[in-house]
Amino acid sequence: MRETKPSASLEAAQLARDLRAQGRRVISLATGEPDFPTPDHIKQACIDALAANHTGYPPVPGIPALREAICEKFRNDNNLNYAPNEVIVANGVKQIIFNALAASLEPAQEVLIPVPGWVSYSEMVRLNGGVPVELPTRYEDNFRLRPEDLEAAITDKTRWLLLNNPSNPTGTIMSEQDIRALAEVLERHPHVMVLSDDIYEHIRYGDVPYFTIAQVSDAMKERTLTANGVSKSWCMTGWRIGFAAGPAALIEAMRVYQGQTTGGVMHPGQYGAVAALNGPRDFMDSNLAEFQKRRDLGVKLINETDGLECHVPDGAFYLFVKCADLIGATTPAGNVISTDADLTRYFVEEAEVVCVPGAAFGMSPFFRISFACKSEVLEEALLQIRAAIGKLELKTKEA
Ligand SMILES: Cc1ncc(COP(=O)(O)O)c(C=O)c1O
Repeated sequence: MRETKPSASLEAAQLARDLRAQGRRVISLATGEPDFPTPDHIKQACIDALAANHTGYPPVPGIPALREAICEKFRNDNNLNYAPNEVIVANGVKQIIFNALAASLEPAQEVLIPVPGWVSYSEMVRLNGGVPVELPTRYEDNFRLRPEDLEAAITDKTRWLLLNNPSNPTGTIMSEQDIRALAEVLERHPHVMVLSDDIYEHIRYGDVPYFTIAQVSDAMKERTLTANGVSKSWCMTGWRIGFAAGPAALIEAMRVYQGQTTGGVMHPGQYGAVAALNGPRDFMDSNLAEFQKRRDLGVKLINETDGLECHVPDGAFYLFVKCADLIGATTPAGNVISTDADLTRYFVEEAEVVCVPGAAFGMSPFFRISFACKSEVLEEALLQIRAAIGKLELKTKEA
Protein backbone atom coordinates (compact mmCIF):
# COMPACT_ATOMS: atom_id res chain seq x y z
CA MET A 1 0.00 0.00 0.00
CA ARG A 2 1.19 3.52 -0.75
CA GLU A 3 1.47 5.72 2.29
CA THR A 4 -1.30 8.25 1.82
CA LYS A 5 -2.20 10.54 4.68
CA PRO A 6 -5.92 10.51 5.45
CA SER A 7 -7.82 13.80 5.06
CA ALA A 8 -7.28 15.57 8.40
CA SER A 9 -10.61 17.35 8.28
CA LEU A 10 -12.56 14.16 7.53
CA GLU A 11 -10.59 12.36 10.27
CA ALA A 12 -11.40 15.12 12.76
CA ALA A 13 -15.09 14.98 11.83
CA GLN A 14 -15.01 11.19 12.31
CA LEU A 15 -13.35 11.59 15.72
CA ALA A 16 -16.25 13.80 16.79
CA ARG A 17 -18.76 11.16 15.61
CA ASP A 18 -16.86 8.36 17.40
CA LEU A 19 -16.71 10.28 20.66
CA ARG A 20 -20.41 11.10 20.43
CA ALA A 21 -21.13 7.40 19.91
CA GLN A 22 -19.30 6.80 23.21
CA GLY A 23 -21.73 9.20 24.86
CA ARG A 24 -19.45 12.25 25.01
CA ARG A 25 -20.98 15.58 24.12
CA VAL A 26 -18.31 16.82 21.75
CA ILE A 27 -18.77 19.79 19.47
CA SER A 28 -17.18 19.56 16.04
CA LEU A 29 -15.78 22.70 14.47
CA ALA A 30 -14.02 20.50 11.94
CA THR A 31 -16.56 20.11 9.20
CA GLY A 32 -16.23 22.06 5.98
CA GLU A 33 -19.86 22.01 4.93
CA PRO A 34 -22.80 24.38 5.27
CA ASP A 35 -25.34 23.29 7.87
CA PHE A 36 -28.22 24.51 5.66
CA PRO A 37 -30.26 21.97 3.69
CA THR A 38 -30.20 21.80 -0.12
CA PRO A 39 -32.93 24.19 -1.40
CA ASP A 40 -36.24 22.48 -2.22
CA HIS A 41 -36.32 23.33 -5.94
CA ILE A 42 -33.02 21.46 -6.39
CA LYS A 43 -34.24 18.41 -4.48
CA GLN A 44 -37.45 18.43 -6.52
CA ALA A 45 -35.54 18.42 -9.82
CA CYS A 46 -33.72 15.29 -8.68
CA ILE A 47 -36.96 13.63 -7.56
CA ASP A 48 -38.53 14.46 -10.94
CA ALA A 49 -35.52 12.96 -12.74
CA LEU A 50 -35.91 9.75 -10.73
CA ALA A 51 -39.64 9.64 -11.52
CA ALA A 52 -38.79 10.10 -15.21
CA ASN A 53 -36.40 7.14 -14.93
CA HIS A 54 -33.20 9.01 -15.63
CA THR A 55 -31.48 6.16 -13.86
CA GLY A 56 -29.23 4.65 -16.53
CA TYR A 57 -25.51 5.24 -17.00
CA PRO A 58 -25.00 8.96 -17.60
CA PRO A 59 -22.65 10.35 -20.27
CA VAL A 60 -19.12 10.35 -18.79
CA PRO A 61 -18.48 14.13 -19.03
CA GLY A 62 -21.97 15.04 -17.74
CA ILE A 63 -25.48 15.31 -19.21
CA PRO A 64 -25.75 17.92 -22.01
CA ALA A 65 -28.16 20.11 -19.99
CA LEU A 66 -25.68 20.33 -17.15
CA ARG A 67 -22.73 21.08 -19.40
CA GLU A 68 -24.80 23.85 -21.02
CA ALA A 69 -25.70 25.22 -17.58
CA ILE A 70 -22.02 25.18 -16.60
CA CYS A 71 -21.06 27.13 -19.75
CA GLU A 72 -23.81 29.62 -18.89
CA LYS A 73 -22.54 29.92 -15.31
CA PHE A 74 -19.01 30.73 -16.50
CA ARG A 75 -20.42 33.28 -18.99
CA ASN A 76 -22.65 35.03 -16.46
CA ASP A 77 -20.52 34.86 -13.31
CA ASN A 78 -17.00 35.09 -14.74
CA ASN A 79 -17.34 36.55 -18.24
CA LEU A 80 -15.64 33.42 -19.62
CA ASN A 81 -16.82 31.68 -22.79
CA TYR A 82 -16.50 27.92 -23.02
CA ALA A 83 -18.08 25.38 -25.36
CA PRO A 84 -19.59 22.18 -23.88
CA ASN A 85 -16.53 20.15 -24.97
CA GLU A 86 -14.41 22.41 -22.75
CA VAL A 87 -16.29 21.50 -19.56
CA ILE A 88 -16.62 18.30 -17.55
CA VAL A 89 -18.64 17.10 -14.55
CA ALA A 90 -17.15 14.86 -11.84
CA ASN A 91 -17.86 13.63 -8.32
CA GLY A 92 -17.04 16.93 -6.67
CA VAL A 93 -14.11 19.28 -7.14
CA LYS A 94 -12.15 16.64 -5.28
CA GLN A 95 -12.43 14.26 -8.22
CA ILE A 96 -11.94 17.07 -10.75
CA ILE A 97 -8.56 17.92 -9.24
CA PHE A 98 -7.53 14.29 -8.90
CA ASN A 99 -8.48 13.53 -12.51
CA ALA A 100 -6.73 16.62 -13.85
CA LEU A 101 -3.53 15.56 -12.11
CA ALA A 102 -3.93 11.92 -13.14
CA ALA A 103 -4.49 12.92 -16.76
CA SER A 104 -1.57 15.33 -16.98
CA LEU A 105 1.27 14.66 -14.52
CA GLU A 106 4.45 12.92 -15.62
CA PRO A 107 6.51 11.20 -12.90
CA ALA A 108 8.40 13.62 -10.63
CA GLN A 109 6.80 16.74 -12.09
CA GLU A 110 6.23 19.43 -9.50
CA VAL A 111 2.99 21.03 -8.39
CA LEU A 112 3.18 24.34 -6.55
CA ILE A 113 0.80 24.58 -3.62
CA PRO A 114 0.50 27.80 -1.62
CA VAL A 115 0.32 26.97 2.08
CA PRO A 116 -1.64 26.95 4.20
CA GLY A 117 -3.73 25.08 1.66
CA TRP A 118 -6.50 22.52 1.48
CA VAL A 119 -5.58 19.18 3.09
CA SER A 120 -6.02 17.04 -0.03
CA TYR A 121 -3.87 18.83 -2.61
CA SER A 122 -0.48 17.42 -1.60
CA GLU A 123 -1.73 13.87 -1.19
CA MET A 124 -3.43 13.94 -4.58
CA VAL A 125 -0.19 15.09 -6.18
CA ARG A 126 1.73 12.27 -4.47
CA LEU A 127 -0.90 9.69 -5.44
CA ASN A 128 -0.35 10.68 -9.06
CA GLY A 129 3.44 10.36 -8.89
CA GLY A 130 4.11 14.10 -8.70
CA VAL A 131 6.02 16.14 -6.17
CA PRO A 132 4.09 18.70 -4.12
CA VAL A 133 6.11 21.88 -3.57
CA GLU A 134 4.80 24.06 -0.79
CA LEU A 135 4.86 27.83 -1.25
CA PRO A 136 4.64 29.34 2.22
CA THR A 137 2.62 32.52 2.67
CA ARG A 138 2.67 34.77 5.73
CA TYR A 139 0.19 35.67 8.44
CA GLU A 140 1.37 39.30 8.12
CA ASP A 141 0.34 39.29 4.41
CA ASN A 142 -3.02 37.78 5.30
CA PHE A 143 -1.71 34.64 3.54
CA ARG A 144 -1.56 36.22 0.06
CA LEU A 145 0.94 34.52 -2.24
CA ARG A 146 3.74 36.93 -3.13
CA PRO A 147 4.67 37.01 -6.85
CA GLU A 148 8.38 36.85 -5.99
CA ASP A 149 7.83 33.65 -3.98
CA LEU A 150 6.03 32.13 -6.96
CA GLU A 151 8.83 33.17 -9.31
CA ALA A 152 11.49 31.66 -7.03
CA ALA A 153 9.70 28.30 -6.81
CA ILE A 154 9.22 27.66 -10.54
CA THR A 155 11.63 25.13 -12.07
CA ASP A 156 11.82 23.22 -15.36
CA LYS A 157 9.86 20.46 -13.63
CA THR A 158 6.93 22.63 -12.56
CA ARG A 159 3.74 21.39 -14.19
CA TRP A 160 0.97 23.09 -12.23
CA LEU A 161 0.30 25.96 -9.87
CA LEU A 162 -2.71 25.30 -7.65
CA LEU A 163 -4.67 28.37 -6.58
CA ASN A 164 -7.63 28.37 -4.22
CA ASN A 165 -9.65 31.56 -4.02
CA PRO A 166 -11.31 32.18 -1.55
CA SER A 167 -8.98 30.00 0.46
CA ASN A 168 -9.59 27.05 2.69
CA PRO A 169 -8.35 27.32 5.47
CA THR A 170 -7.74 31.08 5.67
CA GLY A 171 -10.77 32.65 3.96
CA THR A 172 -8.39 35.05 2.20
CA ILE A 173 -9.57 36.39 -1.14
CA MET A 174 -6.99 37.40 -3.72
CA SER A 175 -8.02 40.59 -5.53
CA GLU A 176 -7.86 41.12 -9.28
CA GLN A 177 -4.64 43.03 -8.70
CA ASP A 178 -3.11 40.14 -6.68
CA ILE A 179 -4.07 37.67 -9.40
CA ARG A 180 -2.76 39.83 -12.24
CA ALA A 181 0.58 40.11 -10.42
CA LEU A 182 0.81 36.29 -10.24
CA ALA A 183 -0.20 36.03 -13.91
CA GLU A 184 2.63 38.37 -14.87
CA VAL A 185 5.08 35.89 -13.36
CA LEU A 186 3.37 32.97 -15.08
CA GLU A 187 3.61 34.71 -18.45
CA ARG A 188 7.38 34.28 -18.19
CA HIS A 189 6.95 30.52 -17.61
CA PRO A 190 4.58 29.22 -20.27
CA HIS A 191 5.17 25.55 -19.32
CA VAL A 192 3.25 26.02 -16.04
CA MET A 193 -0.49 25.27 -16.05
CA VAL A 194 -2.84 26.77 -13.45
CA LEU A 195 -5.54 24.92 -11.59
CA SER A 196 -7.86 27.44 -9.97
CA ASP A 197 -10.08 25.90 -7.29
CA ASP A 198 -12.99 28.37 -7.03
CA ILE A 199 -15.30 26.21 -4.92
CA TYR A 200 -15.93 29.05 -2.41
CA GLU A 201 -16.59 31.66 -5.14
CA HIS A 202 -20.02 32.63 -3.84
CA ILE A 203 -19.15 32.59 -0.15
CA ARG A 204 -17.80 36.11 0.11
CA TYR A 205 -18.51 38.90 2.59
CA GLY A 206 -18.59 42.44 1.23
CA ASP A 207 -18.95 43.73 -2.30
CA VAL A 208 -15.52 43.09 -3.79
CA PRO A 209 -16.03 41.71 -7.34
CA TYR A 210 -14.80 38.20 -7.90
CA PHE A 211 -11.92 37.60 -10.30
CA THR A 212 -10.50 34.27 -11.42
CA ILE A 213 -7.16 33.83 -13.20
CA ALA A 214 -8.61 32.56 -16.51
CA GLN A 215 -10.08 36.08 -16.92
CA VAL A 216 -6.62 37.67 -17.17
CA SER A 217 -6.19 36.98 -20.91
CA ASP A 218 -6.99 34.44 -23.62
CA ALA A 219 -3.45 33.10 -23.25
CA MET A 220 -3.95 32.54 -19.51
CA LYS A 221 -7.36 30.96 -20.12
CA GLU A 222 -5.71 28.48 -22.53
CA ARG A 223 -3.47 27.17 -19.73
CA THR A 224 -5.96 27.26 -16.86
CA LEU A 225 -8.37 24.67 -15.54
CA THR A 226 -11.05 26.40 -13.46
CA ALA A 227 -12.70 24.04 -10.98
CA ASN A 228 -15.97 24.85 -9.26
CA GLY A 229 -19.06 23.07 -8.00
CA VAL A 230 -22.31 23.12 -6.16
CA SER A 231 -21.12 21.64 -2.83
CA LYS A 232 -20.59 24.74 -0.73
CA SER A 233 -22.63 27.59 -2.23
CA TRP A 234 -25.69 25.49 -3.06
CA CYS A 235 -25.45 23.37 0.13
CA MET A 236 -24.97 20.15 -1.85
CA THR A 237 -21.84 18.59 -0.31
CA GLY A 238 -23.36 15.10 -0.24
CA TRP A 239 -24.47 15.19 -3.87
CA ARG A 240 -20.87 14.94 -5.05
CA ILE A 241 -21.08 17.17 -8.08
CA GLY A 242 -18.23 19.38 -9.23
CA PHE A 243 -17.18 20.67 -12.62
CA ALA A 244 -14.35 22.32 -14.47
CA ALA A 245 -13.67 24.32 -17.61
CA GLY A 246 -10.40 24.40 -19.49
CA PRO A 247 -8.55 23.54 -22.69
CA ALA A 248 -10.40 20.92 -24.75
CA ALA A 249 -7.40 18.55 -24.89
CA LEU A 250 -7.10 18.43 -21.10
CA ILE A 251 -10.86 18.02 -20.66
CA GLU A 252 -10.76 15.15 -23.17
CA ALA A 253 -7.90 13.47 -21.25
CA MET A 254 -9.89 13.85 -18.01
CA ARG A 255 -12.96 12.36 -19.72
CA VAL A 256 -10.98 9.32 -20.85
CA TYR A 257 -9.52 8.83 -17.35
CA GLN A 258 -12.95 9.22 -15.74
CA GLY A 259 -14.47 6.79 -18.26
CA GLN A 260 -12.00 4.11 -17.15
CA THR A 261 -12.43 4.76 -13.43
CA THR A 262 -15.75 6.02 -12.06
CA GLY A 263 -17.76 6.81 -15.20
CA GLY A 264 -20.31 9.62 -15.14
CA VAL A 265 -21.75 11.24 -12.02
CA MET A 266 -24.98 9.94 -10.39
CA HIS A 267 -27.58 10.59 -13.11
CA PRO A 268 -30.61 12.10 -11.31
CA GLY A 269 -28.30 14.22 -9.18
CA GLN A 270 -27.09 15.95 -12.33
CA TYR A 271 -30.65 17.17 -12.94
CA GLY A 272 -30.57 18.66 -9.46
CA ALA A 273 -27.34 20.45 -10.37
CA VAL A 274 -28.98 21.86 -13.53
CA ALA A 275 -31.77 23.28 -11.34
CA ALA A 276 -29.14 24.68 -8.96
CA LEU A 277 -27.11 26.47 -11.63
CA ASN A 278 -30.11 27.73 -13.61
CA GLY A 279 -32.34 28.50 -10.63
CA PRO A 280 -32.80 31.37 -8.15
CA ARG A 281 -29.94 32.33 -5.86
CA ASP A 282 -31.75 34.42 -3.26
CA PHE A 283 -31.23 31.68 -0.64
CA MET A 284 -27.50 32.37 -0.91
CA ASP A 285 -28.01 35.91 0.44
CA SER A 286 -29.72 34.71 3.60
CA ASN A 287 -27.13 31.94 4.07
CA LEU A 288 -24.34 34.48 3.66
CA ALA A 289 -25.93 36.88 6.13
CA GLU A 290 -26.06 34.05 8.67
CA PHE A 291 -22.44 33.02 7.95
CA GLN A 292 -21.33 36.62 8.38
CA LYS A 293 -22.96 36.86 11.83
CA ARG A 294 -21.16 33.69 12.88
CA ARG A 295 -17.88 34.88 11.40
CA ASP A 296 -18.05 38.12 13.37
CA LEU A 297 -18.94 36.27 16.57
CA GLY A 298 -16.11 33.76 16.04
CA VAL A 299 -13.49 36.41 15.27
CA LYS A 300 -14.50 38.41 18.35
CA LEU A 301 -14.37 35.41 20.68
CA ILE A 302 -11.03 34.21 19.30
CA ASN A 303 -9.36 37.61 19.48
CA GLU A 304 -10.63 38.13 23.05
CA THR A 305 -9.02 34.85 24.13
CA ASP A 306 -5.50 35.08 25.54
CA GLY A 307 -2.98 33.30 23.34
CA LEU A 308 -5.14 33.24 20.19
CA GLU A 309 -5.53 35.59 17.26
CA CYS A 310 -6.98 35.53 13.75
CA HIS A 311 -7.73 37.78 10.79
CA VAL A 312 -11.27 38.56 9.66
CA PRO A 313 -11.75 36.26 6.65
CA ASP A 314 -13.31 37.77 3.51
CA GLY A 315 -14.67 34.48 2.26
CA ALA A 316 -15.37 30.77 2.95
CA PHE A 317 -16.44 29.74 6.46
CA TYR A 318 -13.22 29.13 8.36
CA LEU A 319 -11.00 30.93 10.84
CA PHE A 320 -7.32 30.06 10.71
CA VAL A 321 -6.23 30.78 14.26
CA LYS A 322 -2.68 31.58 15.30
CA CYS A 323 -1.73 29.83 18.54
CA ALA A 324 2.06 30.36 18.77
CA ASP A 325 1.76 31.75 22.31
CA LEU A 326 0.37 28.44 23.56
CA ILE A 327 3.20 26.28 22.27
CA GLY A 328 5.32 25.16 25.20
CA ALA A 329 2.44 25.44 27.68
CA THR A 330 1.74 22.65 30.18
CA THR A 331 -1.66 21.00 30.62
CA PRO A 332 -3.19 20.28 34.07
CA ALA A 333 -2.13 16.63 33.54
CA GLY A 334 1.48 17.76 33.14
CA ASN A 335 1.82 17.28 29.38
CA VAL A 336 3.66 19.86 27.33
CA ILE A 337 1.88 21.26 24.26
CA SER A 338 4.64 21.04 21.64
CA THR A 339 2.64 21.31 18.41
CA ASP A 340 -0.70 22.54 17.13
CA ALA A 341 -1.78 18.88 16.92
CA ASP A 342 -1.06 18.56 20.68
CA LEU A 343 -3.20 21.64 21.24
CA THR A 344 -6.17 20.38 19.22
CA ARG A 345 -5.89 17.02 21.04
CA TYR A 346 -5.99 18.91 24.32
CA PHE A 347 -9.09 20.79 23.12
CA VAL A 348 -10.82 17.45 22.48
CA GLU A 349 -9.96 16.15 25.94
CA GLU A 350 -10.47 19.27 28.02
CA ALA A 351 -12.96 21.37 26.03
CA GLU A 352 -14.72 18.57 24.12
CA VAL A 353 -14.26 20.56 20.92
CA VAL A 354 -12.79 19.19 17.70
CA CYS A 355 -10.72 21.49 15.45
CA VAL A 356 -8.19 20.72 12.70
CA PRO A 357 -4.49 21.42 13.41
CA GLY A 358 -2.68 23.84 11.09
CA ALA A 359 -0.08 21.15 10.30
CA ALA A 360 -2.75 19.43 8.18
CA PHE A 361 -2.79 22.55 5.96
CA GLY A 362 1.01 22.85 5.89
CA MET A 363 1.37 25.72 8.38
CA SER A 364 2.00 25.67 12.12
CA PRO A 365 1.29 26.65 14.80
CA PHE A 366 -2.31 27.35 13.82
CA PHE A 367 -5.62 25.55 13.95
CA ARG A 368 -8.70 25.84 11.78
CA ILE A 369 -12.24 26.16 12.97
CA SER A 370 -15.28 26.03 10.73
CA PHE A 371 -18.10 28.43 11.57
CA ALA A 372 -20.60 26.46 9.50
CA CYS A 373 -22.55 25.67 12.67
CA LYS A 374 -25.22 27.46 14.71
CA SER A 375 -24.09 30.62 16.55
CA GLU A 376 -25.00 29.13 19.95
CA VAL A 377 -22.86 26.07 19.23
CA LEU A 378 -19.96 28.18 18.01
CA GLU A 379 -20.14 30.38 21.08
CA GLU A 380 -20.31 27.43 23.47
CA ALA A 381 -17.36 25.73 21.75
CA LEU A 382 -15.17 28.82 21.74
CA LEU A 383 -15.94 29.57 25.39
CA GLN A 384 -15.02 25.98 26.27
CA ILE A 385 -11.75 26.40 24.37
CA ARG A 386 -11.15 29.64 26.26
CA ALA A 387 -11.75 27.88 29.58
CA ALA A 388 -9.39 25.05 28.59
CA ILE A 389 -6.70 27.57 27.66
CA GLY A 390 -7.23 29.21 31.05
CA LYS A 391 -6.12 25.94 32.69
CA LEU A 392 -2.80 25.84 30.84
CA GLU A 393 0.37 26.90 32.51
CA LEU A 394 1.99 29.10 29.87
CA LYS A 395 5.65 28.96 29.06
CA THR A 396 7.22 32.10 30.47
CA LYS A 397 8.58 34.32 27.74
CA GLU A 398 12.36 34.62 27.74
CA ALA A 399 13.51 38.13 28.53
C1 LIG B 1 -10.59 24.11 -1.22
C2 LIG B 1 -11.50 22.97 -1.44
N1 LIG B 1 -11.55 22.40 -2.66
C3 LIG B 1 -12.37 21.37 -2.91
C4 LIG B 1 -13.17 20.83 -1.92
C5 LIG B 1 -14.05 19.67 -2.25
O1 LIG B 1 -15.17 20.07 -2.91
P1 LIG B 1 -16.23 19.01 -3.45
O2 LIG B 1 -17.24 18.79 -2.36
O3 LIG B 1 -16.83 19.67 -4.66
O4 LIG B 1 -15.49 17.77 -3.78
C6 LIG B 1 -13.15 21.38 -0.64
C7 LIG B 1 -13.97 20.79 0.44
O5 LIG B 1 -13.75 20.98 1.59
C8 LIG B 1 -12.30 22.48 -0.40
O6 LIG B 1 -12.25 23.05 0.80
